[in-house]
Amino acid sequence: MRKPIIAGNWKMNNTIETTKSLISEIIPLVKDAKCEVVVCVPFTDLEAARKAIRGSNIKLGAQNVHWAPKGAFTGEISAEMLKELKVEYVIIGHSERRQYFGETDETVNKRTKAAIAMDLKPIVCVGETLNQRESGLTSEVVKTQIVGALKDIEKESLKKIVVAYEPVWAIGTGKTATASDANDTIAVIRKAIQGIYGSVSANAMRIQYGGSMNPQNATELMGMPEIDGGLIGGASLKAQDFAKVINY
Ligand code: PGA
Repeated sequence: MRKPIIAGNWKMNNTIETTKSLISEIIPLVKDAKCEVVVCVPFTDLEAARKAIRGSNIKLGAQNVHWAPKGAFTGEISAEMLKELKVEYVIIGHSERRQYFGETDETVNKRTKAAIAMDLKPIVCVGETLNQRESGLTSEVVKTQIVGALKDIEKESLKKIVVAYEPVWAIGTGKTATASDANDTIAVIRKAIQGIYGSVSANAMRIQYGGSMNPQNATELMGMPEIDGGLIGGASLKAQDFAKVINY
């Protein structure tokens, strides 16, 4: 049985002050959650979030990590730095990073390896653009992305990884993939993982859906057999909405 995991991706939102207030609002609403609950906050909010979630069932996540242990990489953050802040999860290869910051399957792979080496749990994102979907390339695109992201990663390390399937056209647009489309594409991803690591590892892998997931569609999406959770953007910024998704 795969334990569902619902993670908020705050993106570039919230200051230290609003981090404290949002988390204190969320805590009582999700205390009986049956799934794993994570908040992935901006680097500058990690320390405040770490303190705010203390004693709760909420886990801490970051939104990126560099692959080098240290050095001349202005503006980047290492896995050791995240570990020091008690970060447990880290989003890697979000489509916004791929689209605006030149992230590639190769850099996603390097970041994933660095995270694993420091015992962080990567949330590796894959997903097709609207153009690719309309050209019938969805399966091919997500397969290439997942194979690239996992290149040379040992089977043993796979347990730490969560995959997030996020169709780019569904992110922040209010358009959601239908539950059955999302389920089918996640099955394609699982099949690709099975091709590399075998069925035991593939069946153990948690694969989330992300893209305009909200209180209205969470129950249906979470009811699909292949969908093991959600990566939630907009709806994670409102305590009530995020809690409703978590308590789907
Ligand atoms: P959204 O974002 O829920 O606002 O569509 C999801 C994501 O980008 O992780």
